[in-house]
Amino acid sequence: MFNAKLPEPSLDRVDGRLKVTGTATYSAEYPLENLAHAVLVTSTIAKGRITGLDFKLAESVPGVLAVISHLNSPGVPGYPPVKQPAERAPIGTALRVFYDDFVYFSGQPVAVVVAQTLEQARHAASLAQVNYQTEKHQTDFEANVSKAAVALSVQRNKTSPFQDYDRGNPDAIKTADVKLESTYVFPTQHHQPLEPHAIIAVWETDDKLTIYDKNQGVKSAQGNLASAFKLPRENVQVNSPFIGGAFGSGIRVWPHTIAAVLAAKKVKRPVKLVLGRELMQMSVGSRPFTVQKIAIGASSDGKLTAITHEGIGQTSTYEEHLERTILATRAMYACPNVSTRYRLLNLDVNTPTWMRGPGDATGMFALESALDEMAHELKIDPLEFRIRNHADTDPERNLPWSAKTLKECYRTGAERFGWDKRTSEPRSMQANGLLVGYGMASSLYGFHRHPSKAKAVMRTDGSVVMQSATMDIGPGTGTAMTQIAAKMLGVSPNKIRFDLGDSSLPDAPGQNGSATITSVGSAVHVACEALKKKLLTLAAAMPNSPLANSRFEDITAKTGRIFPTANPSASISYADILKYHQLPQVEVTEESKPGPERDQYSMYSFGCHFVEVQVNPLTDEVRVSRVVTCADVGKIINYKTARSQSIGGIVGGIGMALMEESVMDHRFGRYINTDFAGYHIPVHADIPQIEVYYVDQPDVYVNPIGSKGLGEIAIVGVAAAVANAVFHATGKRVRQLPITVDKLV
Ligand code: MOS
Repeated sequence: MFNAKLPEPSLDRVDGRLKVTGTATYSAEYPLENLAHAVLVTSTIAKGRITGLDFKLAESVPGVLAVISHLNSPGVPGYPPVKQPAERAPIGTALRVFYDDFVYFSGQPVAVVVAQTLEQARHAASLAQVNYQTEKHQTDFEANVSKAAVALSVQRNKTSPFQDYDRGNPDAIKTADVKLESTYVFPTQHHQPLEPHAIIAVWETDDKLTIYDKNQGVKSAQGNLASAFKLPRENVQVNSPFIGGAFGSGIRVWPHTIAAVLAAKKVKRPVKLVLGRELMQMSVGSRPFTVQKIAIGASSDGKLTAITHEGIGQTSTYEEHLERTILATRAMYACPNVSTRYRLLNLDVNTPTWMRGPGDATGMFALESALDEMAHELKIDPLEFRIRNHADTDPERNLPWSAKTLKECYRTGAERFGWDKRTSEPRSMQANGLLVGYGMASSLYGFHRHPSKAKAVMRTDGSVVMQSATMDIGPGTGTAMTQIAAKMLGVSPNKIRFDLGDSSLPDAPGQNGSATITSVGSAVHVACEALKKKLLTLAAAMPNSPLANSRFEDITAKTGRIFPTANPSASISYADILKYHQLPQVEVTEESKPGPERDQYSMYSFGCHFVEVQVNPLTDEVRVSRVVTCADVGKIINYKTARSQSIGGIVGGIGMALMEESVMDHRFGRYINTDFAGYHIPVHADIPQIEVYYVDQPDVYVNPIGSKGLGEIAIVGVAAAVANAVFHATGKRVRQLPITVDKLV
């Protein structure tokens, strides 16, 4: 059941060769004719008004085609007219690009320079003069925390999951046998994927727009631009076939996208705009700075009796970003008394956004650290403590789990890791002069499935084309979908082509929430099933057909042929079916969507991580020396791509635990570590051997293929497992990430 090696099926990435040979074309790489280049001019203050723009020098640079600001923007028809006098945007307004003179955060686009070449545009942008009337900004979370409040959107929505929540007795914490209370601080983090955000915008005609764009959802980008520019959806074409990582920063349309589209409109040429690392950190969202207070109560025999969890997340002054920070705490453990509170703090920063495992990664750092602290206090093994408090049914919704094999994850992880060799006292394990620590944490991630369509086409040569407007930001979507289609149709994977990342294809959700295999994979599954049925009907109508009376359940498809399962020699090839009927192709488009099972079962992915750290007792340098992870995510479609997702998530989790932090200089309200020299992420030398295991049992209630989300649960809990291991190694509990040397000295 558990798999150390890669068992079948593990198809190689269908686009692997394209990617490693540099022949996959990314958004900035389309060599369009007459392409002009755009560079943003961004605000240097965090709050205030633009009082003057002087572009004379910038405009005099050879090759400059236009300098566009709120004073001469061609305008976004979807924006309301600017009020007179102009007013700050009310909460709930996406930043309006080149709209009025308000500045909401440092790094906000205030103008864009378009030129023949990138060098000319960059030089001209450096000469653009912007004068401001500066207002006092507030960017310091801790200095402003008393202003945190219930989000307006939550106040207006009584059924919001972010409403104050009390299960059982909210005062139970006061009478717990053992009680601990701690505050956990999570810094701002930025996605910084390998490929920066990039767009080429082309107005084909006055009312037809094409973009080549880095994003996580071609359909949502299409819809957003169609409404911004008041165009029929089909007049906006979004091409995003290859994405070099995104982690959530590509879920929404950001101001630079609108800026590029406006620039192309103004100069009547295709315009390319690529964000540099600095603007990647300042203008496309972040994981929000978050402070959490957890009080946890337990009986002396190791049962959780009460948990209160308060989370305060940072947001901008013009939008509310809410994430699941406190939600996992309601579902994770069997605890009768649970209270959660969620608040937002509006600051003069760019709006945060989802970042891998949004909310859960933040919340589970706090909860799983608190569990470890309590286990230590009770002198119970941390794994045993979690097993004692395992939730056999969902304690929040009072529903059975659709499937849950977390206890098997615990068993496998512990066994493969050698958890039984852990001696309980901190600082009790050493090797080669280094302090050794063992830590573990549980992991949980909600289940998301969205209506999705897929088209399946059988062609005369027996090859198959599949199409869906889904995405691949890195996990290997086309590969997994090819496998699902190959299995259903009995066609070799190398005869299947899967098209994605194109807004003209059948409707599918963007790639987020770990929902692609479950949503789009289900659509591929049902589309191929419908195609096979259609082909069976055609085969049955052929003269002397061996399939004349076969029911769908009684046939098998293999190597491009179908036959009665009881009589494999009486097969007909797909190619012959099309040839006989003189059809150029046979196609179906099918939709798959969730049903009533969502109200009958509670659906989550689960897992756990076991981490070994080695800490140098002289320098306090922490190195992660071993990780074993086991996930319960239903059926594994492709072990190779799944394992790669798990490893990627753990690498992200190690970065979160030990390195990643966007540092703001509050005098200027501006991030200062805006490159990879300052914003640290793990490199190969920081990453040890990572062992990945899956329970690999289909969850029969979630969808027809039995798979649940994997991409995000991979990161959830990792930082806590590292922090817990650091405590075990050193006896020091670090509650503020990242765990840098200064916090251990
Ligand atoms: Mo993920 S944060 O849903 O890209």
